[in-house]
Amino acid sequence: MKSFLDSEQLDRPTLERLLDDADRFREVLERPIAKVPTLRGKTVATLFFEPSTRTRLSFERAAKALSADTMSFSPGTSSLSKGESLKDTVQTIAAMGADLLVVRHRSVGAPARVAAWTGLPVVNGGDGAHQHPTQGLLDALTIRRALGRVEGLRVAIVGDIAHSRVARSGVFTLATLGAQVVLVAPRTLLPVSVEGWPCEVTTDFDEVLETLDVVYLLRVQTERGGATVFPSVREYLRRYGMTRQRFARLGPDAVVLHPGPMNRGVEIEAAVADDPRALVLEQVTNGVAARMSVLYHLLGSPEHA
Ligand code: CP
Repeated sequence: MKSFLDSEQLDRPTLERLLDDADRFREVLERPIAKVPTLRGKTVATLFFEPSTRTRLSFERAAKALSADTMSFSPGTSSLSKGESLKDTVQTIAAMGADLLVVRHRSVGAPARVAAWTGLPVVNGGDGAHQHPTQGLLDALTIRRALGRVEGLRVAIVGDIAHSRVARSGVFTLATLGAQVVLVAPRTLLPVSVEGWPCEVTTDFDEVLETLDVVYLLRVQTERGGATVFPSVREYLRRYGMTRQRFARLGPDAVVLHPGPMNRGVEIEAAVADDPRALVLEQVTNGVAARMSVLYHLLGSPEHA
């Protein structure tokens, strides 16, 4: 694998190798000195043209745990504000000696363009409403570690599917690993077409609730217009939110995931968000291990020696 741009590019054996290595890196992160020399001498640059807490910091943490150097870029304080183009910007960063770029951008396809312009391995850290492939990977890792498998599990992805790069990456990653995925959303928050997506679709959360092993709640993306298509927050929570009452109807082993940042009281009630079966912080820790695995496969595995 040269770059990691979308979740559809990976077959099941490759995904399972990434997850197996992520499990090993998770063990590294639990050591008193959580560092291995695997990527010594390599430089990872994080180029985030949209806000991020989890993805950006966990890539930096992952790179440092592998002994790589890191460079980071903030658009607001860069020469983009003097009119420099995206192409000139990323070629400038490549010329400083970066070995791999992690790119988040509001435009669909921007990470692929950056890969073409620089010739460097690129990891898509989220492009518009298109893909967030390392999120799909860390979610699969979290489910596999919590429930022992992904194959055969019934996973609902609930909420603002239309604006969600997380949903698309999640559907393809989990389905490739053998999960049955069901999208749950009001019609107004479903994409125009999900033709070719390996999943079921329903508008009735309560109808499927008791069949689920995993409930994956999506953030309502107010910045992309997600809150304008339902009458009120109260109405959204009533029909699609993970309330305490819905949580009580889940099976005893069922778990709840959310990619963060959470809108408490919109897609998830605070009491559920803070329950031990809500794996939100476990997802964050697994995000570091999953990203270590991706960096290792792109820069450090024997084919790159
Ligand atoms: N889940 C996720 O992508 O979070 P950030 O926007 O904080 O990176």
